[in-house]
Amino acid sequence: MCAELARIAPMKEKCRVFLGNSGTEAVEGAIKLARHATGRQNIVAFLGAFHGRTMGSTSLTASKAKYHAGFGPLLPGVYHAPFGKVEDLKWFDEVLFERLCPPEEVAAIILEPIQGEGGYIVPEDGFLQGIRAICDKYGIVMIADEVQAGAGRTGKMWSIQNWDVEPDIVATAKGIASGMPLGAFIARDSLMAKWSAGHHGTTYGGNPLACVAALETIKLLEGGLMGNAKARGDQLLAGLRKIQAVHPELVKDVRGIGLMIGVDFGTHEAAEAVEWAAFQRGLCTLTAGKSVVRISPPLVLTEAEAATGLRIFGEAVAEVAAKA
Ligand SMILES: Cc1ncc(COP(=O)(O)O)c(C=O)c1O
Repeated sequence: MCAELARIAPMKEKCRVFLGNSGTEAVEGAIKLARHATGRQNIVAFLGAFHGRTMGSTSLTASKAKYHAGFGPLLPGVYHAPFGKVEDLKWFDEVLFERLCPPEEVAAIILEPIQGEGGYIVPEDGFLQGIRAICDKYGIVMIADEVQAGAGRTGKMWSIQNWDVEPDIVATAKGIASGMPLGAFIARDSLMAKWSAGHHGTTYGGNPLACVAALETIKLLEGGLMGNAKARGDQLLAGLRKIQAVHPELVKDVRGIGLMIGVDFGTHEAAEAVEWAAFQRGLCTLTAGKSVVRISPPLVLTEAEAATGLRIFGEAVAEVAAKA
């Protein structure tokens, strides 16, 4: 399993892998490695990010205040940057490095290449390249949290590959073992070489059942499911844009790549109403961010199932539009 993940890693350098049980553990391991390998303490995450529910990943999360409420004090040395626009990158020089902490004290920048829980936000072209450049300039470790967007969902194995940017560490879980409990982080050999046996570990990580499921999953992804994610994603995006054209007052934006699609309704109330109207018709979606319904179906979705989903979603939107 480790060899397979190292083979499909989005880095040219040789990689090594640590296997755990969940996404949050993958993130915890990644930030431990970044701190250990750099000898630095601070970590930059992004407003809107979701990285998990253990203390470190909770501290990195900034999608909803509820995820922090009552759990403080959180991990010190965490800063949150604005996400997604190339223009936002100046925050690093003008705010962080100028006013808050020198770049030489930043161990890692962690990001979801496409923000999930934060509202299915696709960054502008140039944003991830800009983060890579900042990391290269200051010796900062770039961590891609691919827990939600990875494992073929965007039509590429890793969502960061949509921008041709190489991270230093990748965290994965969720789809990588088709729902069996497996999480992993994949890191450049030059980073992993900086710690040794015992610096990090776990009892159940890499359990044989989850590993078999993941090995089969990778075969299926490479054998056609990544292509299906792209084709079904294009089908859904086109269909959702038609629904938007009928109800432009309700549907403010349709965005996404592959089977990671967000439909923005402008208000939380409208998004929840559509989620509920769809659910009552047997279609399960989930809100994200303030006002977005996320559409994140399994990669085995057929063309006919996608068409059915679109029909039901269209009916749900029409019902909510009629009540508005
Ligand atoms: C981007 C991202 N990172 C990390 C996590 C945490 O994963 P897990 O729930 O497996 O701990 C999630 C889960 O929702 C996620 O979406």
